Amino acid sequence: MWKKDSGDVQLKNIDMKRIPRHLAIIMDGNGRWAQQKGLPRSVGHRAGVEALREVVRGSDELGIKYLTVYAFSTENWKRPQSEIGILMSLLKEYIRKELAELHANNVKICIFGQEEDIPKDVLKAYNEACEKTKNNTGLVLNVALNYGSRIEILKAVKEVAQEVQSGALNVQQITEEIFEKHLYTKDCPDPELLVRTSGEMRLSNYLLWQAAYSEIVIVNECWPDFNRALLFETIRIFQNRERRFGGVKEG
Ligand code: FPP
Repeated sequence: MWKKDSGDVQLKNIDMKRIPRHLAIIMDGNGRWAQQKGLPRSVGHRAGVEALREVVRGSDELGIKYLTVYAFSTENWKRPQSEIGILMSLLKEYIRKELAELHANNVKICIFGQEEDIPKDVLKAYNEACEKTKNNTGLVLNVALNYGSRIEILKAVKEVAQEVQSGALNVQQITEEIFEKHLYTKDCPDPELLVRTSGEMRLSNYLLWQAAYSEIVIVNECWPDFNRALLFETIRIFQNRERRFGGVKEG
């Protein structure tokens, strides 16, 4: 089981019967968090890993089934080489250090993204983690690594087009369900809740198809300050939203 977490934040006022099955997070603001403290950006990323550890545990405690975190986007390659190097080594360190505990807690690890450009050692560490945990039945932790939604959608379009070209499928048979089978998220429901930290109000090429009806909660705190208490607070906000999916409220 997880080691005891900090604080005694309560689950009170959370309806445990209406927990989102899938929570997606844009972990934004590591750099600003550090800069506000006069520290190098790398310190912010390191603190961001600590926040992630707490949020994985908190999500499991809540009974969230799928947690998808935006660890590195296809646009993040535009950052200075030194920062990319730090992010990659933190990603590797995270999985190396956490794997045993994640596995012991029945967490299943998956990665979403363009694998060919991920440094070999990082990819190897994640592939091993996915393999080791593939039969786990608890929380599914999806790490979006070199992920970009437009590329994901294009990949799906090309695969479907290929099926049409080969005669396996005709154009009239293409449905949302068939299309979704070609997305990285093929085994997950759409996220009911998408959280972004640091006050920014953008999707930044994250889960554009899947978030069509997600409730979006913007948290002003930077990612390293996001913790169990703020996670619980976002769930309370979610539970107070009225989800209509384009319809009208009944009754
Ligand atoms: C955004 O902060 C964060 C990232 C680009 C990467 C998120 C990475 C981590 C939390 C650490 C490693 C992740 C895992 C899964 C172990 P930013 O640098 O864009 O901050 P800024 O907007 O203030 O510059």
